[in-house]
Amino acid sequence: MLTHNPYKPQNWEIKKIIDETPDVKTFRLFQRGVRPFIYKPGQFVEISIPGAGEAPISITSTPTRPDYLELSIKKTGKVTGLLHGLSMGDVVNIRGPYGRGFPVDELKGEDLLFVAGGIGLAPLRSVINYVLDRRASYGEVIVLYGARSYDDLVFKDDLALWGSRRDMNLLATVDAGCDEWSDREEGWCGRVGVVTTLFSECKMDSARHLCLICGPHIMIKFALAGLMEAGFKPSRIITTLERMMKCGIGKCGHCNIGPKYVCQDGPVFTMEEISRLYEAL
Ligand SMILES: Cc1cc2nc3c(=O)[nH]c(=O)nc-3n(C[C@H](O)[C@H](O)[C@H](O)COP(=O)(O)OP(=O)(O)OC[C@H]3O[C@@H](n4cnc5c(N)ncnc54)[C@H](O)[C@@H]3O)c2cc1C
Ligand code: FES
Repeated sequence: MLTHNPYKPQNWEIKKIIDETPDVKTFRLFQRGVRPFIYKPGQFVEISIPGAGEAPISITSTPTRPDYLELSIKKTGKVTGLLHGLSMGDVVNIRGPYGRGFPVDELKGEDLLFVAGGIGLAPLRSVINYVLDRRASYGEVIVLYGARSYDDLVFKDDLALWGSRRDMNLLATVDAGCDEWSDREEGWCGRVGVVTTLFSECKMDSARHLCLICGPHIMIKFALAGLMEAGFKPSRIITTLERMMKCGIGKCGHCNIGPKYVCQDGPVFTMEEISRLYEAL
């Protein structure tokens, strides 16, 4: 009898490559295999290059647009470096989807506040576009997004679209005084400052909003402090954790934090859950 092999990847063909920033590319992929690919925003895949290795990458597309899968990948090392060298028509191996995604059904009717930093917008973009594609099912949508510089803002097409919609509110900012401060920033007519400076401007309300955060560790730390000070309950703040991973399916123990496996019990956790995990953040 044939059994499903969870480690067996499927072939996906690269149909489009978008240069988001100098070191982030978005790959739009079409599946060549036969298994339908069903996923939730917040889940991740393991993408591999034979002979080089695998990398866990969040899905940035939304299941409401099922014709393709999108992954936004920052070049940081061996596998991601080789992925950046691929061209349209090349084939990559993908297994998954894995992990616990954002609870998009439980979020129905909620007023949502998204806080993202840098490439941390990738998993949140999946939820934001999911919510926008089912707009009537959700309450207010506020997106706060910060990047180091204009060049580091990812998904500029989405940002332009979200900024033009009247049924949501996008506030974007770039850090001031960073090393890469260039002529481009001088042309940036948006806000300047770290993402938490947008808190006072966005009229967030801890009694009403449910907050979803993703970004670099330092941003999450400061954002959490600001949200707690504003009165948000830990059960109403949801974030994602990153850990080194191997199997992605709760077998190897590489990603554990105490009794939890980030690959299986996460990567999406409420702050209430995280507060019970020693040194999770
Ligand atoms: C659930 C999950 C979702 C992720 N989603 C994305 C995404 O959407 N886009 C994206 O660009 N990256 C994402 N990452 C990070 C990505 O997996 C790593 O950057 C990648 O595995 C590095 O592989 P590499 O072979 O290119 O680098 P390596 O040569 O293995 O390492 C290069 C550097 O990256 C560090 N590194 C490797 N793996 C991780 C990791 N898991 N977390 C933090 N640092 C790491 C290494 O310590 C080293 O400093 C995600 C990680 C997890 C766990
Ligand atoms: S990556 Fe193997 S247990 Fe999580």
